[in-house]
Amino acid sequence: MRYKRILLKLSGESLMGSKNFGIDPERIGTYAQEIKEVAEAGVEVAIVIGGGNIFRGIQAAEGGKIDRVQGDYMGMLATMINSMALQSALESIGVQTRLQSAIQMEQICEPFIRRKAVRHLEKGRVVIFGAGTGNPYFTTDTAATLRAIEIEADVILKGTRVDGIYTADPEKDPNAKRYDTISFSEVYEKNLNVMDMTAFTLCNDNKLPIIVFDMNKQGNLQRLLNGEHLGTLVKF
Ligand code: GTP
Repeated sequence: MRYKRILLKLSGESLMGSKNFGIDPERIGTYAQEIKEVAEAGVEVAIVIGGGNIFRGIQAAEGGKIDRVQGDYMGMLATMINSMALQSALESIGVQTRLQSAIQMEQICEPFIRRKAVRHLEKGRVVIFGAGTGNPYFTTDTAATLRAIEIEADVILKGTRVDGIYTADPEKDPNAKRYDTISFSEVYEKNLNVMDMTAFTLCNDNKLPIIVFDMNKQGNLQRLLNGEHLGTLVKF
């Protein structure tokens, strides 16, 4: 396998599948199956999942009734709901998992403890990190990056519904071209939208490569780890 330890970032929104809200059981089942395959092939898998299918702090704050900090905490709880669903989906097909939360919820899961997370990974358990960074004003991309650095992941795999980074928005511009690889400095220069700047800079400062790929095409995760050049690799 191309990488030994990965941090897989999944978007909450893609969990909706064909629904308008919440969690599509079929989609979460497919994700679980894909994760199982790579975990069984010996890759150590840590996961961070967003919460946008349930709640978005920023958007709620725009309405004026929910303040930003409160909204962000609500968003962190949304990531916990998704993390618990993914944990169950994985366990239902026999994958050993551990869920750790950045906000203490001791009845539900263990707290985030880096050394414990690393031990779990070494034992072949899939580790899911919930509740973002535990702080408002940070995205789940930043949480994913932070955790990836802390557990010394080889790469962060950002699963999205587009198959990489393009010269322009491929959903709007038919001439947009996909990059196979791109450097961190080029992303800055061209002002491309890979992750928010906090997350992206954290990757850059810590030499953590990013691969943006389409997680909704079945088998892509395994193909990627088998060494196929899918999506876009952001490297130095
Ligand atoms: P090893 O030490 O490697 O055996 O790891 P382990 O996770 O099996 O050991 P531990 O005894 O810490 O955990 C057993 C189970 O309890 C696992 O499913 C953990 O996720 C869970 N667990 C551990 N700490 C907590 C906690 O603070 N709260 C909750 N709700 N569950 C916990």
